[in-house]
Amino acid sequence: NNKNNTIIIGSDHAGFHLKNIIKKYLTDLGINVEDAGAHTEESVDYSDFGISVASMVASGKFERGILICGTGLGMSMAANRFSNVRAALCNGIFSAEMSRRHNNSNILVMGSRVTGEGVALEIVKHWLETPFDGGRHQMRIEKFNNMGKCI
Ligand code: RB5
Repeated sequence: NNKNNTIIIGSDHAGFHLKNIIKKYLTDLGINVEDAGAHTEESVDYSDFGISVASMVASGKFERGILICGTGLGMSMAANRFSNVRAALCNGIFSAEMSRRHNNSNILVMGSRVTGEGVALEIVKHWLETPFDGGRHQMRIEKFNNMGKCI
């Protein structure tokens, strides 16, 4: 079972419902999904799940991940602490596409209290289908991708 064909997905309680909808959407497309939790709607800390998913993308265990909390803000803050993680908070299709084309985003973040289910699935679809443009964008990524501790 090649983990790099599998998308790791995580949420807190606020993102739990949208996570399930996205899981079904991906599974129906034949894409393998690994669910890092949360597994119920009981209140939990988004930080725990953001760290868990981002660390598995940072280590290369999974190539791509999806994170959902209420706004997407907490998840993206936590995930972007990790070297080699480029987590993109996307509220629309344009951002999702550009996060792939220009930023080679490897974690898609969404806010379940911000983005409706229909738009969220379109965002996922475009994020999955859009390749990285490379070229000058690769050089720009390399300037921050693996900075380690700055302060
Ligand atoms: C949970 O109430 C909420 O704070 C969380 O889902 C997220 O929006 C944090 O950024």
